[in-house]
Amino acid sequence: MNMHRLVICLGTMLTLSLGSAHSAEKKAVDVSKLPPTSDKTGVTYTTDIKPLFEKSCVKCHGAEKPKGKLRLDSLEGILKGGEDGKVVLAGNSGVSMLVHNVAHAGDPDDYMPPPRNKAGIQPLTKEQIGLIRAWIDQGAK
Ligand code: HEC
Repeated sequence: MNMHRLVICLGTMLTLSLGSAHSAEKKAVDVSKLPPTSDKTGVTYTTDIKPLFEKSCVKCHGAEKPKGKLRLDSLEGILKGGEDGKVVLAGNSGVSMLVHNVAHAGDPDDYMPPPRNKAGIQPLTKEQIGLIRAWIDQGAK
């Protein structure tokens, strides 16, 4: 291996290790501490999630300048995700970023709705979070 290739190789290794250390730190969420999944069956976006998000999220995640480039006013928008990628992984609420954010797990900068927001929107209850988890675990339909 010549010197030039060695430098590139070391540089790549450094970048990769820094990158993974950072994301591991951000994603470190203790799933057992999340509010439990609701045992309600047949949870759907239209009947259960839409009214909840309209009340607590759409003010900042609607059509006009959606925060974090995330639209929460349609199923399509939710599944598409935001500036950091997917926020819901259908079938697995425990690893879904949206659940971590509303459950105040992980980085306090990502708590949703943001604490003490000017609109006075309250944090979600454990029951509401449990319902969102059930919806995601049942396939986010
Ligand atoms: C008062 C405004 C406000 C409300 C209400 C609000 N959010 Fe947010 N949300 C933000 C802001 C601002 C960001 C971007 C934060 C950042 O970039 O650091 C954000 C980002 C997010 C993200 C990350 C998107 C990404 O890709 O980075 C998720 C997920 C999210 N919000 C979910 C929700 C949910 C679910 C609700 C309702 C329960 C909600 N938010 C209510 C302001 C709000």
